[in-house]
Amino acid sequence: MKILILQASPRANGNTAWMAEEYRKAAEAAGHEVTLANVGKKKIAGCLACEYCHTKGNGACIQKDDMQELYPLMNEAEVLVLAAPIYYFTLCAQIQAAVQRMYCVQKPANVKKLALLMSSYSPGVYDGATAEFRDICNYWGVENMGFVSAKIDEQKTEETKQKVVALAGKL
Ligand SMILES: Cc1cc2nc3c(=O)[nH]c(=O)nc-3n(C[C@H](O)[C@H](O)[C@H](O)COP(=O)(O)O)c2cc1C
Repeated sequence: MKILILQASPRANGNTAWMAEEYRKAAEAAGHEVTLANVGKKKIAGCLACEYCHTKGNGACIQKDDMQELYPLMNEAEVLVLAAPIYYFTLCAQIQAAVQRMYCVQKPANVKKLALLMSSYSPGVYDGATAEFRDICNYWGVENMGFVSAKIDEQKTEETKQKVVALAGKL
């Protein structure tokens, strides 16, 4: 399958980037075609709600920022993996922007499954993010493959790696 991992932490050596890389290795080892996009380093603005895409734009967004690189990747992907740190009890703004900018086409054209990787400092901070993730899966009509989370003392551990490998194993 075609997998796209949206790695949204701006920290290249952080835990989210590490989990995304472990997922990539496991999925590639199983024969899948994987692209890893460093969304955390991209300039992606929030949706303007201008409705250009649904009127004159014929599905194209009026904003010409780094989202232009992601549109083809997101539309080609059969599986999307959202990899994001928790900021203020929800998914970080970088991943929210990438998802919300899909408003122009309602949903990524070929996506059938979604998975979620999350990092945080504290335990017990995932309810908002997992509820949002569940609702996005339902809204897009795709399979919710589940999530792996890692608080500070679970980061870059063998146990977390095995959870990520198991999640990739559901592909
Ligand atoms: C702006 C900001 C907000 C954060 N908010 C939370 C939070 O609400 N709860 C929490 O447990 N950690 C919070 N953190 C900590 C990060 O989630 C944590 O350091 C995580 O490991 C970062 O992922 P990374 O290593 O992939 O960058 C916050 C960090 C930043 C920079």
